[in-house]
Amino acid sequence: MSASLPRTRVGVWLIGARGSVATTAVAGCAAVAAGLHPPTGMVTETPPFADSGLPALTSLVFGGHDTMDCPLPKRAEELAAGGVLPHGLPAAVAAELAAADAEIRPGGPAPGDTRGTERLIAAFTADIQDFVRRGGLERAVVVNVASTEPAADGAALPPSSLYAAAALRAGCGYVNFTPSTGLHHPALAAAAAASGVPYAGRDGKTGQTLLRSVLGPMFAQRALDVRAWSGTNLLGGGDGAALADPAAAAAKNAGKERVLTDTLGGSPEGEVHIDDVPALGDWKTAWDHIAFDGFLGTRMVLQTTWQGCDSALAAPLVLDLARLTLRAQESGVRGPLTDLGFYFKDPVGQGPSALAEQYAALVRFGRQLGEAA
Ligand SMILES: NC(=O)c1ccc[n+]([C@@H]2O[C@H](COP(=O)([O-])OP(=O)(O)OC[C@H]3O[C@@H](n4cnc5c(N)ncnc54)[C@H](O)[C@@H]3O)[C@@H](O)[C@H]2O)c1
Repeated sequence: MSASLPRTRVGVWLIGARGSVATTAVAGCAAVAAGLHPPTGMVTETPPFADSGLPALTSLVFGGHDTMDCPLPKRAEELAAGGVLPHGLPAAVAAELAAADAEIRPGGPAPGDTRGTERLIAAFTADIQDFVRRGGLERAVVVNVASTEPAADGAALPPSSLYAAAALRAGCGYVNFTPSTGLHHPALAAAAAASGVPYAGRDGKTGQTLLRSVLGPMFAQRALDVRAWSGTNLLGGGDGAALADPAAAAAKNAGKERVLTDTLGGSPEGEVHIDDVPALGDWKTAWDHIAFDGFLGTRMVLQTTWQGCDSALAAPLVLDLARLTLRAQESGVRGPLTDLGFYFKDPVGQGPSALAEQYAALVRFGRQLGEAA
């Protein structure tokens, strides 16, 4: 099922374009568009969004920034060897991978890069504008899927915020799929408000937090008293390595804990730990241990085990978010896209935190997009 016929070509500019999530999104988009695989995991391909006027998968053109230079077809082969992409898929979509690879520009700042903030933002903006112009694209959305950076300290703009500033300057919608600062930096608040572009974030909700946003409301609605909620994650891959840095993990865990505070109305005891286990590659195991009290203080425990392939969970959501944000911009929607809270651990704006309410808001938003000109 395709949401609509291609009218125009639109751009998806990925920050971290050579990473696992980005490579899976590019390869997956080509595979689904060619009918090689069903769109499993893509919410925008389900019936409620059929009339939302979303750009067709065949109309998406990919490019982006990355600081490493491994060619995309090679990254895709590595992911296929690791079982993330189906065997044979990189060969089947080789042309699309090569086309996206040709549109990836060096990111920054590289070690020893002497360019200051303004020069970096100007260079990134020029790369995005050049992509849009050369491709004859109607518009583009910038999606951050780069490595999680440590929580920002001080006034200097971290790399994710340099890219976010470039997106605003290029007049592109912006999605932050990571916990990194991005548009959240105070120095960008005025520019974001004045830019008139739609934006969404932060940090895709794909595994443990997805489950928490369903289970948290369940405990609250059944009037059960959650005393402690503890979680441990084991994962490898680039994300596992990046999150081995305690500062990067702290940025990630803040979002996971927000879901509990918002759905339970308070913070139970317990922490979230993230362990880097390189042997696991992209496969994540997440355990949650929830200690709760029932009637008359009877003590009980729920334990959950989630075993997911991170990039296969994230990539369809990246495609969803790109399409929704592109369509939002086309429809004249500007500012924070609170109705996309369904997708994020730490959503922009003041939307609901329970997954069921977030889904209802998303479906309503899809309907509004369909009614817009
Ligand atoms: N389920 C999920 O996979 C999931 C869920 C939520 C959030 N995320 C976030 O998505 C991001 C990507 O995850 P991944 O598994 O693809 O990681 P990855 O390590 O495979 O890819 C990250 C890419 O970012 C690039 N990069 C690093 N610094 C950069 C910079 N300054 N400019 C441009 N590119 C830069 C790296 O070279 C790499 O290619 C992470 O931040 C992760 O936390 C993933």
